[in-house]
Amino acid sequence: MQQRTLGRTGRSVSAIGLGTWQLGADWGAVSEDDATAVLAASVERGVTLFDTADVYGDGRSESIIGRFLAGRGDHGVTVATKMGRRLAQEPENYTPENFRAWTERSRRNLGVETLDLVQLHCPPTAVIEDAATYDALDALVTDGSIAAYGVSVETCAQALAAIARPNVTNVQIIFNPFRLKPLDEVLPAAADAGVAVFARVPLASGLLSGKYTATTTFAADDHRTYNRHGEAFDRGETFSGVDFEVGLSAAHELAAALPEGVTLPAATLAWIAAQRGVTSAIPGARNVRQAQSNAGAGALLEGGFDVDAFDRVVREVYDRSLREAIHPLW
Ligand SMILES: NC(=O)c1ccc[n+]([C@@H]2O[C@H](COP(=O)([O-])OP(=O)(O)OC[C@H]3O[C@@H](n4cnc5c(N)ncnc54)[C@H](OP(=O)(O)O)[C@@H]3O)[C@@H](O)[C@H]2O)c1
Repeated sequence: MQQRTLGRTGRSVSAIGLGTWQLGADWGAVSEDDATAVLAASVERGVTLFDTADVYGDGRSESIIGRFLAGRGDHGVTVATKMGRRLAQEPENYTPENFRAWTERSRRNLGVETLDLVQLHCPPTAVIEDAATYDALDALVTDGSIAAYGVSVETCAQALAAIARPNVTNVQIIFNPFRLKPLDEVLPAAADAGVAVFARVPLASGLLSGKYTATTTFAADDHRTYNRHGEAFDRGETFSGVDFEVGLSAAHELAAALPEGVTLPAATLAWIAAQRGVTSAIPGARNVRQAQSNAGAGALLEGGFDVDAFDRVVREVYDRSLREAIHPLW
């Protein structure tokens, strides 16, 4: 597994990380035993980046990670958490006092003195553009509550605003074969600035696994049931904002272009991680099999997979089927 520099932190993280929203809530039930097994399987295959948030299961995801890492001494895993969604996402809630309360809670959940990396969890644009936001985050670094900070964003314009700030370690943005806009400006700007990029929703909430059909249904407590049209949060977080039927057909075309023995999720993750400017793809996994398969995609980066040939198909399918609906929105 390739390890890559995490901005200016002096740390390195794996090219394929692990998203742990699934280990909190909103994806149907995942038991603590299963969640712990997902973490273990990922680490065994070279994953050194866990992405979590204080709101995933209201701290459940963070707490499970904390218990898992507690017994592992010098484990080398970077935990990137997020804050800012325990209250309404309104600018007046992004205060130094709330930042302190949120990070103290995450430190307790994760069982650490200093959080490795805290990302603002898709705040309003006004917060991303406000110098006071970064003054408050710098103060948390100075007093040792956090080692570094970043910003998770919805739009490319927000990503560019965050990248322009001097002390931002990373931006996290949706980037996958159904979301190519970050290729235009965000990834080049991040690479030039030395800001790390975490590509979230890399499998378009599972659409890019290629395993769903028109009759697939999801549990009632799964956001792929209750947020399909943006009813609960930004529509882009569910299937990348792509219409389910359109996504099925596009995933089918991508899978058909792959050589025998290369699966669509593995090819997708390798393609993402191969793009200049991407530090890590952070797929979510609900079970050990998925975690193993996703970490295994790291091996495709070492060779044996023609990323450029897949890239041509990705761009052709995107331009024909997705660009018009997706490109202007995020
Ligand atoms: N606002 C934010 O900052 C934000 C928002 C969204 C996500 N995130 C982060 O990004 C991470 C990744 O995004 P995501 O979890 O939303 O979406 P994702 O990684 O695109 O999709 C995850 C889903 O894909 C399926 N899957 C994963 N690996 C598979 C494999 N090898 N084979 C077959 N199916 C596979 C599973 O679906 P099934 O459940 O159907 O098996 C899994 O639940 C999250 O866990 C979270 O850490 C952050």
